[in-house]
Amino acid sequence: MIIEKWKTQGYVGEPLPEGIDVKAEIRRMCREKNAVIMAHYYTEGEIQDIADFVGDSLALAQQAARTDADIIVMCGVHFMGETNKILCPDKKVLVPDLNATCSLAESCPAQEFADFVAAHPGHTVISYVNTTAATKAVTDVVVTSSNARQIVESFPKDEKIIFGPDQNLGNYINSITGRSMILWNGACHVHEKFSLEKILRLKAEHPGAKVLAHPECKGPVVKVADKVGSTAALLKYSIEDEATEFIVATESGILHKMQQSAPNKTFIPAPPEDSTCACNECNYMKLITMQKLYNCLKYEWPVIEVDAEVARKAVCPINRMLEISAKLGL
Ligand code: 13P
Ligand code: SF4
Repeated sequence: MIIEKWKTQGYVGEPLPEGIDVKAEIRRMCREKNAVIMAHYYTEGEIQDIADFVGDSLALAQQAARTDADIIVMCGVHFMGETNKILCPDKKVLVPDLNATCSLAESCPAQEFADFVAAHPGHTVISYVNTTAATKAVTDVVVTSSNARQIVESFPKDEKIIFGPDQNLGNYINSITGRSMILWNGACHVHEKFSLEKILRLKAEHPGAKVLAHPECKGPVVKVADKVGSTAALLKYSIEDEATEFIVATESGILHKMQQSAPNKTFIPAPPEDSTCACNECNYMKLITMQKLYNCLKYEWPVIEVDAEVARKAVCPINRMLEISAKLGL
């Protein structure tokens, strides 16, 4: 079958037809199939622009939980598609390239995490949404970077907590809440590479610039930031703050929305430490292209499937997160 061949070719699929308006055709297919396109802020600008909804991990999960579309096309990484499928088991959930995984989710294999949990009896297990469905299945409550602090603080001060998989986010939450959660040793290959030295050099060149950092960055980077938060929180801050220049220490796709939302401000991507690149990109998010999106909608493939037993267990901690977030107005 032709689409099986695409899989071996990195899900590229058939070439975009010549002489048609591809974007209009994508929108037409969405109407015809009652499909909704969701995109994370880290995807390419043109993918964000064609999406019905662009958001951070929390907003994407909330949006999936309330959509009445029959098909969700998740332009993001695999765990986001899985979360949508778990929340909407009767809908068809598509991710245009199943190779779009996540180094952070992969740093926490479900069985090893289950063994870690078993080695710490009596602990509540809090997992970042950047995990596979199987890891969520051994979790008590899921969090995103938008609600991690509030959800941790919703537990009594002396609650024994395991937090995984992001050690940087866990350390940051421990530092601002005074908790001592036991941390899984995982990290995001994009965020842990930001260079403090290069950020300080940029800061010296742009003394009026504010530093924005995602809490997946290492401690020293987070420490010099004027604002630490999820992608949505950093975007909001960049629009509302009076500063006109920002050094942005998160995946560079977010600069697209920042620049669109505040065209008169300057956004400087923070560079990684180990290369000459000016910005830091998530190679997984950038796998989502217009060609793959077009083919994905046309052929309704590749489909996200989640094992029924895993989904049955994983839906509880995801719903718990959504319920706490709704209660807290997040
Ligand atoms: P947020 O969307 O919660 O800011 O997380 C960033 C991220 O790394 C998503 O993979
Ligand atoms: Fe995963 Fe990092 Fe990419 Fe986010 S930026 S999807 S955490 S690898």
